[in-house]
Parts: sequence; C-alpha cells; structure tokens
Amino acid sequence: MNYPFQAEALPYDYNALEPYLSEEILHYHHDKHYVTYVNKLNELLKNYPNLQNMTLEELLIHTDELPNEAKTSILNNAGGVYNHELYFACMNSSDCELPTDKLALAMNAAFGSVDQFKAEFTAAAINQFGSGYAWLILSNGKLEIIATPNQDVPISPTVTPLLCIDVWEHAYYLQYQNRRPDYVENWFNLINWDFVGARYMSLNNQGE
Ligand SMILES: [Fe+2]
Repeated sequence: MNYPFQAEALPYDYNALEPYLSEEILHYHHDKHYVTYVNKLNELLKNYPNLQNMTLEELLIHTDELPNEAKTSILNNAGGVYNHELYFACMNSSDCELPTDKLALAMNAAFGSVDQFKAEFTAAAINQFGSGYAWLILSNGKLEIIATPNQDVPISPTVTPLLCIDVWEHAYYLQYQNRRPDYVENWFNLINWDFVGARYMSLNNQGE
C-alpha cells in the first residue's frame, strides 16, 4: 500500500544550498509547496481505494486507470509530488561536480560537450513560458532536453526523467525576484551528478 503518500524529508539541511538557493526558499518550497501536493494527492485518493495500491509512477503512467472526473487533479498533484522529489534529490551542496563515467560519455555523444548541454538546458529552462520545469530525460535510450508546463511529468514506459529544474516562480522569487536566468545559472552549481549518474546507470543497465 503506497497510500497515504508520505512527504519525504529534504535530503540535506535547509541552508545546505546557500548561497545559490536560500534557506528561506527551501523552507517554503519543501514545507509548503511540496507538502501541499502530497496532502492534496492523499485527499484525492481517499475517494478511490482501487488507486491506493498504485505507486506514484504508476499513477502518472497508467493514466487510463484514473477516473475521468478526478484525472486532471490526480495528475497535477501526483506530478507535483514526483517533480519536487526529483528536483530536491537532484541537488546537493558540493561545488563544481561534473557528470562522470557513462553518463558523461552519453552526454558528450548527445550534446557534444557538457558546456553545450548547459547551454541547451539553460535555454529550455529560461524559455519555458510561465511555470514548469526543464528536464534531462532518457527517451528510448537517448538523452534529450525538454521543458514542460505546470506539473506535467515526462514519464512513460519509454521515457524516464533524470534531472529537472523547477522554474515556477516559487522556486526562486524570494531570492532572485524576476531574474530566472540568474537562478538557472547558479543552480548548475547545485546539481548532484552522482545521483543523476546513478539514475542513468540503473536505467541503462536494464536495457543492456
Ligand atoms: Fe516547486
């Protein structure tokens, strides 16, 4: 039984991402925004016992099993939970890390270089109109960069997200106000490439 879903603790101290991301932002972002998605998802699923055994991923992938009258709400809130858990997990406090091993090779093959990846990812994050996310995904075995609106999740039997940045204003406004490009630039210092690399390897090995 996955229901009720439990909010995950932040995987580091609230001030661990200073100076790039303030303690104040992480308190609001994790304790208010993220936890609200968890609570709303549980509230919605309360009425649907047949969905309570599904994992978060199953709710997001097997959308045909969701009742029409609640489908949009369930997907929005399940997406809000999934996206924030990945976003928080993709960051840590160690500076200047870079992708390594097979992920580094795959990124060089897909984008030409880490710098080119950064340029394309930055453009996706800055150009996402309104709220949403930019992503590094593995789609049919290939690395791609995409952006999605709101709490949409690029997940399917053939697509798995590896890395995301939240570009909702609540993710940066208290520190950066309207300067999303500055937030994105600084966020690159926070990427937990060990986590992203392990995620990539776990998927890559399944396919071999
Ligand atoms: Fe967020």
